[in-house]
Amino acid sequence: MAKTEGKNLQNSDLMERVVSLCKRRGFIFPGSEIYGGLANSWSFGPYGVELKNTIKQMWWQKFVTNREDVVGMDGPIFLHPKLWEASGHLAGFNDAMVDCKNCQSRFRADHLVEEVTGKDMEGQLSAMNEIIKEIKCPNCGKINWTEVRNFNMMFKTNMNGINEDVYLRPETAGAIFIEFKNIMDSMRVKLPFGIAQIGKAFRNEIVAGNFIFRVREFEQMEIEYFINPDDNWNSVFDGFLKSQEEFALSLGADKQNLRHYEHPKEKLSHYSKKTVDLEYNFPFGFGELFGLAHRGDFDLSRHSEFSLEKLTYFDQENNRRFVPHVIEPTFGLERSVLVALCAAYKEEFVDKETRIVMKFSNQLAPVKIAIFPLLKNKPALVEKAKQIFHTLKTIYVCEFDDNGNVGKRYRRQDEIGTPYCVTVDFESLEKNDVTVRNRDTMAQERVAVHDLLNYFKDKFIY
Ligand code: GAP
Repeated sequence: MAKTEGKNLQNSDLMERVVSLCKRRGFIFPGSEIYGGLANSWSFGPYGVELKNTIKQMWWQKFVTNREDVVGMDGPIFLHPKLWEASGHLAGFNDAMVDCKNCQSRFRADHLVEEVTGKDMEGQLSAMNEIIKEIKCPNCGKINWTEVRNFNMMFKTNMNGINEDVYLRPETAGAIFIEFKNIMDSMRVKLPFGIAQIGKAFRNEIVAGNFIFRVREFEQMEIEYFINPDDNWNSVFDGFLKSQEEFALSLGADKQNLRHYEHPKEKLSHYSKKTVDLEYNFPFGFGELFGLAHRGDFDLSRHSEFSLEKLTYFDQENNRRFVPHVIEPTFGLERSVLVALCAAYKEEFVDKETRIVMKFSNQLAPVKIAIFPLLKNKPALVEKAKQIFHTLKTIYVCEFDDNGNVGKRYRRQDEIGTPYCVTVDFESLEKNDVTVRNRDTMAQERVAVHDLLNYFKDKFIY
């Protein structure tokens, strides 16, 4: 088979094609579609949820179970309303919003200003108000703006038996900080140690978009890593920077598509010593993938002040009690999925046709092995293929497929990113062997049925 590399699709075409493949092949669907859709909400289909679960498992393994100094937890989405006062979210979790009075389009004022002037004016409302007077609405071309005003991004709701507003948590971190004492008391942990959590977060983004990059409901994977303030925080920080990069590479990201962005000192919160984002070159340009922040003792001190609970650590060796400092590595799950999808998407020319293939690593591939009978109307082939399917699926995520000709089935599995396809043909009935086809090389080899488990064993060691 003649195969050449396809076009380099690092542009808006790539996003369009990834979105289309995700819908066509059951990865990600537009949310509430049969009701006309709910803007920027997405539903993960059968392959999307496999991919998402694999990424969560990879993260949990790397940052929790493989480490001696991190424990896990899973806190509630609804948390005491006072928590958001203490954390500063009620007063300050705002983005700057502006509306076009002519066409009613709504924008993040700081994004609009930055796109036109190149200046980052986040938080400077009055300065943005001045500049925006000169900017045309990107939708209708007119200049007729409302005032730039702050918009709190927390979703507010109410709860039976509670007389205050409650909020859907805008990040998972808060749930971790308020369990600091319970984990200290129950787990015999010693500094430095981390508490990790994976879970949903909700933000009423003024403008969501770029597929699953900016959504209003998403999952975060976060660690609050507690350290002694006298210890060398730089080495902990650098260690997490390195592990974040390793994790991005394990999603399939090319090193050249990753870069670090260190927040300028004047933009840091008063309690933070350093904040660095790991950015990925998404099809629409570089954007934040993960974040890493030194948060000082801000969170534990504030929750202590508001809850009146002592959130301190007793250092027995030095007979000293203090509030630990925190290093916070944070990871977005949807953005991780988007990296995996964009990095895997390839188009190649094979025999004058375009082959679309998702080149996921074997670990990320949502389906590991697909098993086909050559023909679906030959019971002996179907029965043998089913037997193999049932054996392999006790160990790997497998798919049985007898629809259409084998060439079409290969193309479908290529688009799902399945690394291996096993075909049972007439020779298999005589020789008790099968054809195994490799997704990337498209090479085929005969493997004895009794060797299949052995054959795949080393292919799926991660
Ligand atoms: N606790 C720290 C924190 O929440 P953040 O930078 O606001 O920090 C952490 O969010 C990560 O969550 C980001 O690096 C990004 O991957 C993801 N994230 C944030 N907002 C998001 C959104 N609207 N849609 C999808 N992912 C988002």
